[in-house]
Amino acid sequence: MINKCLFPVAGYGTRFLPATKAMPKEMLPILNKPLVQYGVEEALEAGLTNIGFVTGRGKRAIEDHFDFNYELEHQIEGTGKERLLADIRNLIRHCTFSYTRQGAMRGLGHAIHSGYTLVGEEPFAVVLADDLCFGEKQGVLAQMVGVFKQFRCSVVAIEEVPEEDTDKYGIIAVDAITERIFRVTDMVEKPALDQAPSNLAIVGRYILTPDIFEILSTTEPDASGEVQITNALLAQARQGAVMAYKFRGKRFDCGSVPGFLEATNYCYERFGYE
Ligand code: UTP
Repeated sequence: MINKCLFPVAGYGTRFLPATKAMPKEMLPILNKPLVQYGVEEALEAGLTNIGFVTGRGKRAIEDHFDFNYELEHQIEGTGKERLLADIRNLIRHCTFSYTRQGAMRGLGHAIHSGYTLVGEEPFAVVLADDLCFGEKQGVLAQMVGVFKQFRCSVVAIEEVPEEDTDKYGIIAVDAITERIFRVTDMVEKPALDQAPSNLAIVGRYILTPDIFEILSTTEPDASGEVQITNALLAQARQGAVMAYKFRGKRFDCGSVPGFLEATNYCYERFGYE
């Protein structure tokens, strides 16, 4: 019913320079696992096995990560280190991986639009791998698939953010349906504090219906030349076709150094490391 998950990974990751000069930020590891692997594990847990990446220049390491490395496999075969590859082998066994390039860096909306060739006319999920999410009981995407099954329209993951941070996110206005599920009535990209309709922020998990591609094809870039997914979602929201879901779990903004550090400490406490 929904089995595709798109990972836009074409961004430059300027907040993490110089680490991201020659390496994709999605390959930065939390403990010993790259951010993007956590994202794909979350997708697989939600039943999404068809994984698509929208890549850009300098992102080859991601393709290599989701492929067998025969020399390495041969080298460590039969040693105690094999267990370190168990999770990535599991992903390679159960998922397919496809890639397309975003020709020019024109924003998240443009990156998602570039994914049409991988997705086609089906509902699909989008994961921003630098938003690292740990769900309670179920992963965040699995929770969102449940909401999608109920409402059959686009779903965005949201969380409450401090008021002084609203200018970093897409912020929504809503009608509450349940304690965790809301119908989106308006949304603004990175509003100033006095312009924000609430403190409910969209984070990097979406389920989108395929009409979003048509909308994105006519969505004008903003003043900085970027096509914002928020503006395209607003067109769907005006038809009552976007739900917001306050997920059960935690999210870390691993695209920033403080968020990355917080996630590292959290994972060390929660999972440990030998
Ligand atoms: P960010 O806003 O985090 O931008 O993009 P960025 O370039 O990755 O990082 P900074 O802000 O310079 O440090 C959000 C997501 O959208 C993707 C990014 O890869 C990231 O996953 N993206 C953004 C694209 O794929 N293409 C774009 O043109 C812009």
